Amino acid sequence: MEFIFASGNAHKAAELAELFKGSNLSIVAAPEAIAVEETADFLYGNAEIKARAYYDKFKRPTVADDSGLFVEALPAELGVLTARFGGDSLTALQRCELLLKRMENESERSAFFMCVLCFVLSPTEIYFFEGRLNGQIGKEIVGDTGFGYDPIFYPNDLKHGPLGAQSLAQDEVFKMAHSHRARAVARARSFLTSYIARP
Ligand code: IMP
Repeated sequence: MEFIFASGNAHKAAELAELFKGSNLSIVAAPEAIAVEETADFLYGNAEIKARAYYDKFKRPTVADDSGLFVEALPAELGVLTARFGGDSLTALQRCELLLKRMENESERSAFFMCVLCFVLSPTEIYFFEGRLNGQIGKEIVGDTGFGYDPIFYPNDLKHGPLGAQSLAQDEVFKMAHSHRARAVARARSFLTSYIARP
């Protein structure tokens, strides 16, 4: 079964396509990007808004994702608002710097990335899958290859430094196996492959 990815982000569409390789699901870029306002107060709602908007326009099975960084010490400021932390005009690096500044004197540094995938197979068949990557917010920017908040995020329990400190290739290998997105995809694969193949 083929799903279109409800986003204009070609890099993410390619990453998802790779994660679903070898299954009976394939992900392709949407024919065109459409503007969707993400007005929900949590990731599930925003993923659903995007997936339904693309499904309604293209009338094809659709998947959308929404993700965010949840920081224990700043519960109200990131999460669903992660992409807008500090205002719309900041670069990713400036957002990392701002977060480090806000946490200067903070000893509680736990955080997690969370990804929600919403699959719309038809208007009445909608499924959600969640993945998390637990870690810690570091004390300084490390490396210059990471995406988003990677340069200040240290995954827990895994022999990998802060994500931005490795080469981009090493980070990508790590993320394909362990990221919040990879974990959400693993759950989606496990359920949907048998759901789609049912008699
Ligand atoms: P979106 O769902 O792609 O809009 O991501 C929301 C926010 O979370 C953006 O600011 C991203 O930079 C950040 N984010 C999501 N996934 C990751 C990741 O794997 N590493 C670093 N930042 C991420």
